[in-house]
Amino acid sequence: MEPLLKVEDLTIAFKEDDKETVVVDKVSFNVNSGEILCIVGESGCGKSVTALSILGLLSPNASVLGGRIIYEGKDLLKMTDKEIDRIRGNEMSMIFQDVMNSLNPVLTIGNQLTEAARIHMGYDKNKAKEYAVSMLKKVGLPDAWAIMKKYPHMLSGGMQQRVIIAMALICRPKLIIADEPTTALDVTIQLQIMKLLASLQKEFQMSIILITHDIGVVAELADRVIIMYAGQFMEETSVYQLFDNPAHPYTKALLNSVPSIYDDEDKKLASISGTVPERYQDIEGCRFYGRCPYGVPACKDIQVYSEIKPGHLVRCHRAGKGELLT
Ligand SMILES: Nc1ncnc2c1ncn2[C@@H]1O[C@H](COP(=O)(O)OP(=O)(O)OP(=O)(O)O)[C@@H](O)[C@H]1O
Ligand code: SF4
Ligand SMILES: [Mg+2]
Repeated sequence: MEPLLKVEDLTIAFKEDDKETVVVDKVSFNVNSGEILCIVGESGCGKSVTALSILGLLSPNASVLGGRIIYEGKDLLKMTDKEIDRIRGNEMSMIFQDVMNSLNPVLTIGNQLTEAARIHMGYDKNKAKEYAVSMLKKVGLPDAWAIMKKYPHMLSGGMQQRVIIAMALICRPKLIIADEPTTALDVTIQLQIMKLLASLQKEFQMSIILITHDIGVVAELADRVIIMYAGQFMEETSVYQLFDNPAHPYTKALLNSVPSIYDDEDKKLASISGTVPERYQDIEGCRFYGRCPYGVPACKDIQVYSEIKPGHLVRCHRAGKGELLT
């Protein structure tokens, strides 16, 4: 079956003070219908920029230098603003990390949801209101009619995030892009919201691109996983392979080092030494070389992103050869 979304060789740069910096470098991936694809990586490696480009939401100083984003056979990068607006409202939604800025503070929840239902579903006022209430119930908010009358600041962070999910679901999207949707919330609420997303994904048969720092969330929710580092994809595989047979040294380091909302409080984690290199676009060979315990001189050559097993892609000439599997 054709994937719902196909991203091919997408390259994105920012321009600041006449200097162009490539932050997403020839990334390619598919999103299949009804799957949860997780994108994982440290801060600043290009996850949000990749996600924002799909919905045409990049900031004005960003430019797409190359690539294609094919949705149901059409290249989103070639669409007019009006066409993209239609896709964004009716086919895809985004859930942002920033709960506080995702809702309009001067409108009631009811006004915001009802308006969205009128625009995207074409309902009259009464039907839109009832639909909005049904969505608030779907996201597990008790007393939905009372919540309709409230302003965002009258709700807790967790309740606001549920409203944001209801808003994202209003148009019955085929694809939701959730960019670290829970990091602003405390751990127990994060868990509840993740469980909610997983159950809604099944009920609505949607695809989700879930960007997260949390390996525990990946283990719970993902079907497939992409590991991103310094603007490039380092590994892509099924969630089972990722945990049973991680191939890239960066993936292994992440698995051992990232705290999770699913962890016991006393779990001890290693940390990955060093930081993501600055101006990573200038590094010709492996961008993880400076931090990799397995580095050899040949790692300074260009690393090809290649398939080591069907559906399992890795950017490391030493991975998959049995040398690094300790
Ligand atoms: N508006 C902007 N102008 C200039 N550079 C930007 C802009 N937005 C992002 N960048 C740069 O692009 C790179 C990738 O940023 P991005 O926000 O995609 O990272 P991320 O992987 O989402 O990180 P995090 O986990 O912290 O959210 C970073 O180096 C960042 O500094
Ligand atoms: S190419 Fe070399 S430096 Fe890069 S991840 Fe593989 S072993 Fe480590
Ligand atoms: Mg981000």
